[in-house]
Amino acid sequence: MSPASKKRLGILISGRGSNMQAFIQACAKQQLNADIAVVISNNPNAAGLELAEAAGIATQTVDHRLFASREEFDAALVACLQEHRVDLVILAGFMRILTPTFISPYAGRLLNIHPSLLPKYPGLNTHQRALDAGDSEAGVTVHFVTPELDGGPPILQARVPIEPDDTAETLASRVISQEHSIYPLAASWFVDEQLTLKDGRAWLNGKALGPTGIDYASHTQ
Ligand code: GAR
Repeated sequence: MSPASKKRLGILISGRGSNMQAFIQACAKQQLNADIAVVISNNPNAAGLELAEAAGIATQTVDHRLFASREEFDAALVACLQEHRVDLVILAGFMRILTPTFISPYAGRLLNIHPSLLPKYPGLNTHQRALDAGDSEAGVTVHFVTPELDGGPPILQARVPIEPDDTAETLASRVISQEHSIYPLAASWFVDEQLTLKDGRAWLNGKALGPTGIDYASHTQ
């Protein structure tokens, strides 16, 4: 693909930005044939903003506290993404609930990463909830975003074991390293036009994926 036709990514963050950093590295190593057009944060103090600036990427803060409604905030995000001619939106630890004002214009071009084996544990505190339930494994899911919170069709999941002495923090650190592998990989499928959202399902290379998407371990075997 020529540089002119490279897909343009918009990455939305709220904090640390380690997934965003994984995208920066994947683009630099050409594992992901895309340009990061802009990094947007709702939180002016997000550490990830500095990382993006250090990498020479345009950044914007759209502070949700300055808007009267979720819809007005979402419209400002859409305007920012359009200004930067974004083709694919990557939610990377973006901790705001989005409305159809945002989701509709980017339907099928909007990915999220969620730190659980969806459909288990949508919402917050996923690792503690897995520990409290006595689960033997946890993990992470990349999925298309639809208006249902953490309910869009899964694309790719990675599983990790839960060890007897795990805390939410130790489990989170085991999961996050998987996040950094699977999220740029799923995005590369989209960028390479292998992945689409159709009829409410994720399709990879013309095949509809099942309710938990592709299992990363079997994919890499
Ligand atoms: C990641 O663990 C991501 O899965 C999670 O926030 C963290 C962000 O870390 N996302 C959610 O919980 C979304 N509901 P990062 O800022 O270092 O990428």
